[in-house]
Amino acid sequence: MLLLQLTDFHIRPHGRPAMGRCETNMLAEQALRAARDFRPRPDALLLTGDLAHDGTPVEYALLADLLARTIDVPVYAIPGNHDRRAAFRAGLAHLPGVTEHPRFVQYVVEDLPLRLVMLDTLVEESGGGQLGPERLAWLERTLAAAPGRPTLLAMHHPAFRTGMGALDRSGLADAAAFAALLARFPQVRLVVAGHTHRTMWSRVGTVPACTAPGVAHITVLDLAARGGSEWGLEPPGFLVHCLDPEGGLVSHTASVGPFPGPFPFLPETD
Ligand SMILES: [Fe+2]
Ligand SMILES: [Fe+2]
Repeated sequence: MLLLQLTDFHIRPHGRPAMGRCETNMLAEQALRAARDFRPRPDALLLTGDLAHDGTPVEYALLADLLARTIDVPVYAIPGNHDRRAAFRAGLAHLPGVTEHPRFVQYVVEDLPLRLVMLDTLVEESGGGQLGPERLAWLERTLAAAPGRPTLLAMHHPAFRTGMGALDRSGLADAAAFAALLARFPQVRLVVAGHTHRTMWSRVGTVPACTAPGVAHITVLDLAARGGSEWGLEPPGFLVHCLDPEGGLVSHTASVGPFPGPFPFLPETD
């Protein structure tokens, strides 16, 4: 089973680059075309938030059109801090699960070998995220309902410290409560997130956790107190999560863009 995780599209209205200079729509389309052409074909795409830059209806309409033009496998999407929940639910209502919960964009995908639990960490008008008592209780009930099924959790805000000051100031406020809950459910194999616009690996308690690179702008690696406050155009990419028939789970980073190669591994000749 193969899942492609694409994140942080930051779609803008036509002709309006994000932050005045990042052509996020073009970069998102390049990443979606790479996902479309990926072989073997994925079972689904996971989109882990900040899909729109300002959360406006016109941005979701552009994203819906872009997805319709490029992707023909199931797309499972959750919001990030740049999204606005009402516009997200209205503009992406055709995607499975998006309107399933009456208040949040939070749902379960049951028909894959890896059970997917999609979480909504959005706090409107805040850069940081939080699950809060209602969403944590939903997660507890959801995990308790299928203790024997290997499970992947997807969310926008990572539940681990990144070491980059600006990112940690906009992290998941109730990460400790989330980690304490996960400790009771060993079926959770991996927690995936977006938000950082860089690939990172860590753990939530004992559960492996990661963030995917952005498909557009990439956060500059800066481990100082101000780290995470600048961006650049390092190669964007996405994550490829693979579950093999024996239950082994491995995740790869796929870079998007033109690069030299591929070349065969050949012995050097003098
Ligand atoms: Fe983002
Ligand atoms: Fe974000």
